[in-house]
Amino acid sequence: MAQRREFLKFLAASPLLTNYSAFAQEVEETIGERIKDPSEVINVFEMEAIAREKIPPAHLGYLATGVDSDLTLRANRAGFSRFQIRPRRLVDVSQTDTSVNVLGSEAKSPIFLCPVGSQGAYHADAELGSARAAAAKGHHMVLSTQSSTSVEDVIEARDAPIWHQLYPTTRWEFTIAMLQRAEAAGCTTVCLTIDLPGGRNTETSQFLTREDNRNCSSCHQGQAKPMLEGFNMQGVGLNSSQLTWNVIGRMKEVTNMNVVIKGIEVGADAALAVQHGADGIWVSNHGGRATETGLGTIECLPDIVNAVNGRVPIVVDGGFRRGTDIYKALAMGASAVGIGRPYCFGLGAFGQAGVERVLDLLNRELLITMRGSGTPTLASIGPDYVQDAGYRVPRGKLGLDLY
Ligand SMILES: Cc1cc2nc3c(=O)[nH]c(=O)nc-3n(C[C@H](O)[C@H](O)[C@H](O)COP(=O)(O)O)c2cc1C
Repeated sequence: MAQRREFLKFLAASPLLTNYSAFAQEVEETIGERIKDPSEVINVFEMEAIAREKIPPAHLGYLATGVDSDLTLRANRAGFSRFQIRPRRLVDVSQTDTSVNVLGSEAKSPIFLCPVGSQGAYHADAELGSARAAAAKGHHMVLSTQSSTSVEDVIEARDAPIWHQLYPTTRWEFTIAMLQRAEAAGCTTVCLTIDLPGGRNTETSQFLTREDNRNCSSCHQGQAKPMLEGFNMQGVGLNSSQLTWNVIGRMKEVTNMNVVIKGIEVGADAALAVQHGADGIWVSNHGGRATETGLGTIECLPDIVNAVNGRVPIVVDGGFRRGTDIYKALAMGASAVGIGRPYCFGLGAFGQAGVERVLDLLNRELLITMRGSGTPTLASIGPDYVQDAGYRVPRGKLGLDLY
């Protein structure tokens, strides 16, 4: 722990801090020692602060990183400040309902667990902890190609069908094999991630890896990627730079799963995806880990909702840390909202119990916002409940994360 403190002190004095603390409130560095029980954690930012103390720095760097100067990562948070909620009064909000059905997948909450790879790096509970938490709280889960746990085991832990996220690899026969395995396991939808066709520059991750020179091979034991097992990956990339829109039709030839396209940021691409047969659109910039200096995803949403025009459901992720953030996306036309890092912070801080706490916190905040705005059901949350100021409200200097 003393070593850890030294490391955190180093970071506090380092120019790295601006990248490193992109989301964090100012929290005492020993918060993880003071808060022993997840029920004491007050919000997602505090969970992040605890996770930062508990996850090994190099792994934390991978979880926290954006690309280049982390500007898209920050835009995801800053974008929410453009939109304000317009609450209505004297509506009976004594009965609330947050249940959703997206492409036949039912959930108690519109907050989906995004595909996040290698969860064994954050806690030994790994994807099974996330799946059990999702089951306990009634959330829908999407599993990464890079999962450290097999799709079959995760479905058993979730006790319901999940969605599979696909990195198609540069070998089409591997793609077919993964699709067939996911479908046989019980996945109902495949989300093809299309936002990383040409590599990326994850500097925050590299900085922290450089500072963490311990031999952590023990962390990596058992970190095989079951979805890629049995494939000779020598010279094979996870992402193909040759993919074009006909990939949707090619996937539909070999699977009966719904096909959702993950990584759309522009309305014209959403229209192309629907035109080529996509069953759903996932608005995402990979949590600021793909193209640098993009818009926040919440800012991309209106253009995409307009282009899709209700033909298929829309999921959006990127920087969602508050119930109000989720409410805004629902009001603007999303059917569901994905969270990536927040539940992994919970996982890193307390394992499954931490994921459950993150889901509880966000559901509670969403419910408070729904009641406070006079919208007791998701169907009642429409475009009239949110307004675009047209500019991002500058971040304050009060020592709190104002977003
Ligand atoms: C550590 C990490 C690993 C990720 N792994 C994947 C992945 O394997 N496949 C994928 O489609 N997206 C992946 N993502 C992106 C998430 O699915 C999601 O788009 C993003 O995390 C949402 O932003 P948020 O973290 O701000 O909530 C990953 C994100 C993080 C932070």
